[in-house]
Amino acid sequence: MSLEPIISVTDLYKTYVTDEVKVEALKGVCLDIARGDFFIITGRNGSGKSTLLHQLGLLDRPTSGALILNGQDVNTMSEKERAAIRVRELGYIFQEYALMAELTALENVMLPAMMTRPMAECRASAKDFLERVGVSHRMYNLPRQCSGGEQQKIAIARSLVNGPAVIFADEPTANLDSIAAQEIMKLFRSLNEDESHTIVMITHEQDETTYASKLLNLADGQVESNA
Ligand SMILES: Nc1ncnc2c1ncn2[C@@H]1O[C@H](COP(=O)(O)OP(=O)(O)OP(=O)(O)O)[C@@H](O)[C@H]1O
Ligand SMILES: [Mg+2]
Repeated sequence: MSLEPIISVTDLYKTYVTDEVKVEALKGVCLDIARGDFFIITGRNGSGKSTLLHQLGLLDRPTSGALILNGQDVNTMSEKERAAIRVRELGYIFQEYALMAELTALENVMLPAMMTRPMAECRASAKDFLERVGVSHRMYNLPRQCSGGEQQKIAIARSLVNGPAVIFADEPTANLDSIAAQEIMKLFRSLNEDESHTIVMITHEQDETTYASKLLNLADGQVESNA
């Protein structure tokens, strides 16, 4: 295992400018995420958690600061290069599942794989991952025919299909009842411990922070504590 962090951030700033308002959402964040970390980010509403996750996951660009991902300076890359990294190396899970409503579970999971691999291979791989997360019985169902917990598992299978180096999750259990939430957390733990996936997750739930190997608390766009 390489000792070099998979993500290294130095002095990260993000300022949103809308009409007349300027919001300094991140103000000089520094952090390192090691390979195999279960890295949990907490903080009050508006403290900059999602903004930070968007920068780490290459979904947005910082106003200034350095961001090294897998040894590469991703800030200086073109949008095309960044998109290739997003598809091949990163996985995303959101509070709202973000599944395509008109596609079955299987098709949703196949989708990211179809950018790089032949159809038959995508189908086989998608089936494997649906099985891995425990929702293969929902393969031919549409998202609206599945429970919230099942939809989130489908979203997790989709995030895994291209073998990402890092999985990003923004409040993945916020819409779930406590039993489904616990199942999702156990699934993340097993992906982290048994399959060595690096996970970067935001949560508001105090009891979920016990899953963390590293815990970072944000306050007003700055790191308040990092343990
Ligand atoms: N696209 C945007 N344009 C302008 N301001 C934004 C934008 N996104 C976020 N902000 C502002 O940046 C600050 C940080 O927002 P962010 O969404 O990162 O917080 P958060 O910690 O994820 O909050 P929550 O717990 O409510 O999800 C807030 O003041 C927010 O209003
Ligand atoms: Mg947020």
